[in-house]
Amino acid sequence: MIPTTLDLTADPDGIARAADLLRQGLLVAFATETVYGLGGDARNGEAVAEIYEAKGRPSFNPLIAHVASVEAARRFVDWSDHAETLANAFWPGPLTLVLPLRDGHGISPLVTAGLETLAVRVPVHQTARDLLAAFDGPVAAPSANPSGQISPTTADHVRAGLGGRISAILDDGPCGVGLESTIVGLAGEPTLLRPGGIALEDIETALNTRLHLHQVGDHLTAPGQLQSHYAPDAPVRLNAVLKQGEEVLLGFGPVDCDLNLSESGNLIEAAANLFAALHSLNETGRPIAVSPIPDHELGAAINDRLRRAAAPRDS
Ligand code: TXA
Ligand code: MG
Repeated sequence: MIPTTLDLTADPDGIARAADLLRQGLLVAFATETVYGLGGDARNGEAVAEIYEAKGRPSFNPLIAHVASVEAARRFVDWSDHAETLANAFWPGPLTLVLPLRDGHGISPLVTAGLETLAVRVPVHQTARDLLAAFDGPVAAPSANPSGQISPTTADHVRAGLGGRISAILDDGPCGVGLESTIVGLAGEPTLLRPGGIALEDIETALNTRLHLHQVGDHLTAPGQLQSHYAPDAPVRLNAVLKQGEEVLLGFGPVDCDLNLSESGNLIEAAANLFAALHSLNETGRPIAVSPIPDHELGAAINDRLRRAAAPRDS
């Protein structure tokens, strides 16, 4: 237990203090364009172990290393033409690339959970970029929520889930994209490992090829294999047109509902609102029904998260 989790503002002083804490092997949650990340020095095994501990995360589920630039990424992974194409098109931004680890990488094996590959991402959010520049090293950062629960898109969400377990929160308001990064595996054939903030269609256009879709049950541990995830306390029912019983309705488009992801039916707006809406409806303590969401562009990633929120729980 850490007696006080510091609230740091995203100004030069706050960024410098956050970078100092990371250098000391401590954990700092920070704003990114997707969701808040729980950062620790990716080269420091103890710091990375603390990330797993704070989240209660199963140790087989590997972490993303956040870096400041393509040049920084290339120090840790074997680069490729596909990586170059996708980095040119979408970095900095909500895309994570999984590539073979490079010799002499120096990344803690706890980050990759023993895999021969590393997930790397260059975020576009100014606070994340400033922190990475000030720290000048790779930052391992999963989403800053207790494992299996709803991802955080505000500093308040982080504090509610991890307050007292981490050293500081670098607050920079709500996250703009609101969904985690899209993860593309490039260690073999280009493969979609997780839908997210960049639409699959845009990635396929940039690569001029179709992506393989990661099959649940493949040996690699990717988020798609954790069936129940992003889970509120109450049950979630999808593709609901009308409320039943005690339910609250999370709407999409012009529907009569308790909270609307986007009245105009805009998928980008709905993605940005998704996790905050689930956090807020969760507080009502009532079961949650959700309107149908179209399954293209960011809708595919929204539906992915909603299916997991609705999946049967282990306990
Ligand atoms: O937007 C994001 O990606 C956020 C922000 C903080 O950057 N991070 C995030 O991290 O969503 P996390 O840990 O919640 O999800 C990363 C997923 C993990 O579930 C893991 O299965 C997958 O990435 N992953 C990490 N390394 C991998 C690897 N080498 N091969 C396959 N999947 C990997
Ligand atoms: Mg997560």
